[in-house]
Amino acid sequence: MSPESPSVKIQNLKKVFNPETIAIVGASSEPGKVGFQILNNVIQNGFKGKIYPINKKSTEILGVKCFSSVLDVPTDIDFAVIAVPAPFVESVLKDCVKKNVKGTVVITSGFSEVGKVAEEKAIKDIADQNNIALLGPNTFGFVYTPSNLNASFGPQEVASGSIALISQSGALAISLMGWTMMQKIGMAAVVSLGNKADIGEKELIEYFNDDPNVSVILIYMEGIKDGRKFMTTNIKKPVVILKSGSSQRGAQAAASHTGSLSGSDKIYTAAFNQLGLIRSNTFTKAFCAACVLSLPAPKGEDVLIITNGGGIGVSATDECENFGMKLLDDPQWLEAKFRETMPDFGSTKNPIDVTGGGGCESYRKAVRIALAEDKVHALVVLYCETAITDPVEVAKAVIEEYNAAKRNKPLMVTMMGGDRSRHAIQLFNENQIPAVTEVREAISGFKSLYTWKDISSRIKEKVTVPEIPVKAKDVIERVRKEGRSYLMEHESREALEACGVVMPKWGFATTAEEAAQIAEKSNMYPVAMKIASVDIIHKSDVGGVILNIKSADEMRAAFNSMMEKVKKNAPNAKLLGVNLCQMVEGLQCIVGMNKDPQFGPAVMFGMGGIFVEILKDVSFRIVPFGEGEATRMIGEIKAKKMLEGYRGQVVNKASIVKTLLAIQRIANHVKEVDINPLIVNKDGAFAVDARIIL
Ligand code: ACO
Repeated sequence: MSPESPSVKIQNLKKVFNPETIAIVGASSEPGKVGFQILNNVIQNGFKGKIYPINKKSTEILGVKCFSSVLDVPTDIDFAVIAVPAPFVESVLKDCVKKNVKGTVVITSGFSEVGKVAEEKAIKDIADQNNIALLGPNTFGFVYTPSNLNASFGPQEVASGSIALISQSGALAISLMGWTMMQKIGMAAVVSLGNKADIGEKELIEYFNDDPNVSVILIYMEGIKDGRKFMTTNIKKPVVILKSGSSQRGAQAAASHTGSLSGSDKIYTAAFNQLGLIRSNTFTKAFCAACVLSLPAPKGEDVLIITNGGGIGVSATDECENFGMKLLDDPQWLEAKFRETMPDFGSTKNPIDVTGGGGCESYRKAVRIALAEDKVHALVVLYCETAITDPVEVAKAVIEEYNAAKRNKPLMVTMMGGDRSRHAIQLFNENQIPAVTEVREAISGFKSLYTWKDISSRIKEKVTVPEIPVKAKDVIERVRKEGRSYLMEHESREALEACGVVMPKWGFATTAEEAAQIAEKSNMYPVAMKIASVDIIHKSDVGGVILNIKSADEMRAAFNSMMEKVKKNAPNAKLLGVNLCQMVEGLQCIVGMNKDPQFGPAVMFGMGGIFVEILKDVSFRIVPFGEGEATRMIGEIKAKKMLEGYRGQVVNKASIVKTLLAIQRIANHVKEVDINPLIVNKDGAFAVDARIIL
């Protein structure tokens, strides 16, 4: 199998979602039991394939013939639901292996979430050895509407559509099934992941990538066990992600819920950005984004708003600006096209305000024109409920026009009002036109269309972990042999310089004369001198830093006075010499590398000083990443304008990118790297100070 083709397990998921034969092990005739509910759901949802309840005592449940083991079933079994108590799961799974079952969902709780890690590993190993796609354990199952399959003990009814919801929380998925029914949002799949012993987000995303019934994937995540595996996910369709546990207490709650390790939220944000996932922070926004992403992609940037209320139009305009969306701005053209759609006192400026008196026909005409005109790339329809215009009639008119125009561009609706507006929203959603009650939600959801357009147009960079240069490796090994867990400044410089991090002119001297010679030889002035000692952490506190040294004489004098002062202030410290570094001017940035427990080495970038210390204005990327990601990473910090020629200060951004790429070469060999500051000016980016921890 080529590395590009999906794994056998991912292929076997096809048998899970589209089986011809299902066994339900643990099916029961007692209505209060999980095994009864699952069988009942499978039958009631109109699954067309063969159903085999497995129960040792019964001969028939809900009118379907029972078997005492999967091994007794006369035909092949594609997929088995396992709902027997935990001690029996392994033996049932072994029977499934003998029966050549391709996929299972283990409903049973009582595995790693209660500390039974070995028991979970045992079933994972069986699944791995036999290429069985195993969902769960500790899951409520799943629903897949294209094959009328409800293999869950959740609600019976789910509206069918093209969104696949993957949830780490079973209860949440169950409740969202009810909510989507109420909102009339159509789902292709609702999958509860449970403990993710085997099948997780990566496998499901990659399966749904090639499922024509799914247009958008929506994930509720609490945490990831194997961040590095997750980072290899191939994203082909829009994925909206709602990640909880961003607060410290939330992360603790997530850990005790599904045993997930929820690391730094900044790292998750980096991982999502790097993979090209669209993050949402509320369920309604996430669903709104998912619905919008089922629509056709916009052909350009120009958005048109049609409204019957000035206030709601202004709010939508604000939100468009907040979310960086461009409103079509061509007053004469708008006047010529839309004047006939409204009373004289209406406005043809974008938002097109057909006014409260405009009525249903005004909406119909305005929507028809907007959909027909190539200048309009995306359409937002807003409506405030009035006594004279029935919102349901407005909805019907807009839906008819949208269908007549063959749904040729994205359309999003906000309806504000009472019960009648709620019905109108449901009507829109039933017709796969996303509609909500809140302007902010609508525009943030709409924005995801443009986010996805941007993501899908990115060039996919094939990046691998770059080799560490021999020189850097040698320095690290030398320090390790000495039993030290950190590199001194000159050692850190040597290692990083070998990786390609650019330094100002620098040197290491043990005598005043040597210091003067080094500076003279490379014309290093003005120079900063810093004491080199493994015993001194805060150098300036003991007189171990002298700046702006301009000549050989000053250098000798500085060396001698520094040694004298430091010996007096830190009499027990072993002094090895001094680090010399040419002083450079420019913007202070910071670059670092740290190890995240889930994702491994991650590189950080930010502006130095208060930007990092107080505002925490930094961005991250997971190693490895390429030039495109490094550039986007720099563009994510809030102070990015300072790197774009602020007050005439031109900086060489390409050299920051080079530094971010270079630092990765050492990432798998050390624990922490700190380049603080990295001074950036028009000539390049220079690591003025460097520290490495092993
Ligand atoms: N082969 C065939 N049938 C078997 C086997 C077997 N090896 N073992 C048991 N059975 C039968 C039993 O006889 C019983 O049938 P009966 O009612 O006719 O006697 C049936 O299977 C179920 O077994 P019980 O021992 O009655 O177990 P029970 O139904 O009480 O519990 C369950 C089983 C549901 C799997 C339970 O152990 C469990 O894990 N519950 C939690 C499930 C859960 O919450 N999952 C997470 C959901 S996510 C969320 O948050 C909602």
